[in-house]
This record gives sequence, C-alpha cells and structure tokens, in this order.
Amino acid sequence: TPLILMMMLLAYALGSISSAVLVSRLFRLPDPRTTGSNNPGATNVLRTGGKLPAALVLLFDILKGTIPVWGSYFLGIEPLYLGLIGICACLGHIYPLFFGFKGGKAVATALGTMMPIGLELTGLLIASWVVVLAITGYSSLAAIITVGLAPIFTWFIKPMYTLPVFMLSLLIIARHRQNIFRLWHGQESRVWDKGKNLK
Ligand code: G3P
Repeated sequence: TPLILMMMLLAYALGSISSAVLVSRLFRLPDPRTTGSNNPGATNVLRTGGKLPAALVLLFDILKGTIPVWGSYFLGIEPLYLGLIGICACLGHIYPLFFGFKGGKAVATALGTMMPIGLELTGLLIASWVVVLAITGYSSLAAIITVGLAPIFTWFIKPMYTLPVFMLSLLIIARHRQNIFRLWHGQESRVWDKGKNLK
C-alpha cells in the first residue's frame, strides 16, 4: 500500500542522514569516513572525538531506526512490514543517499529498529553488547555476537519478528567483514586503546 511504501522511503531517507558526519562537523573533528576505521559510526567517533560526540552519534543513529518503526506501528502497519521498514532504515544508514554514499555498519540503527519490539529484547541486546565489549574491548565483536544472538532472543520473545531480525543480522554481520578480518589477524583496535591507529 502507498502508506507502507512511503514509510519505507522515509525510513531509508532518514537512515541516510549520517549522524557521525554531522556531529563530527559540529565538534570540528576529522571526517570519520577517512580517519580511524573509516566508518561513520559512534565507535569511530569515540576514537576521533571521545565520549560526548560518540554518545550523540549513538543516540541519533538509534533514533533513525526507532522513529520510522514506531511511527509505522502507530499508523497501524502490520508486523511484517514493520520489519521491512526497519530494514530500510538500516539500508539507508549503510548505503546512504547523501554523504557520498559512504555509510556505516548500522549497529545502532538496528538496535533502534528492534527496540519497539519490547524492553526485554532491548535489555538483552544491550546487555550482551556491553558484556562482550567489557570483556574484549572490541566494539565490532560485541556487535557481531549481539546481532548473532538477536534472532534467537526474538524467537523466544516475539517469534513473529524473527525473520526480519534474522535478515538484519545477516546484513550487519556481512557489513563487518573488514572487522572480522582484523579481529582474526589481531589488528582490531580496542575501545580502550583509542589513540592507536588501525592497520
Ligand atoms: O558500530 C560499528 C562497530 O561495530 C565497528 O566500528 O569503527 O570499529 O569499524 P569500527
């Protein structure tokens, strides 16, 4: 229906707006697309600019997922389409219309799209991300393990959303292939060795 298509396009367009690039400009930090891991996301802004700008990027990137999905829910759109709308938001973040088509990895945006599923899922996702990060220091590994667990958690909490969550997980894991390569070769930077360069 036109409403669903419109929400999908809106989610994609909103997802396309790179918080990392905008916040970096605002704080006069280097462009996250060409420094550190070259990834426009909260993790890389933590490397280039520290906690406050990184937290803002995290917040805005989460909202890019939550706003279109929640909005669509209140417009009475069916569950399966809510999943599609969430995927569109993440696709916008990964393959943006603007910002030279250089998108991020959609970890925060994916969390944002899954948050309307409920507090239990949100809590489990945040907890698993925090635990892996605290143990290993790798933001990427925390994201990979968390999105790997997401479809399993979803299956137990709201089974009808398992398929879209699974699709999101595949997309995000595929997007981390450079991180997987770096992790495998012991070259990934940890959040606590901020200053060090990658590679
Ligand atoms: O949030 C993205 C994270 O999983 C990896 O980011 O900058 O270390 O490639 P980065």
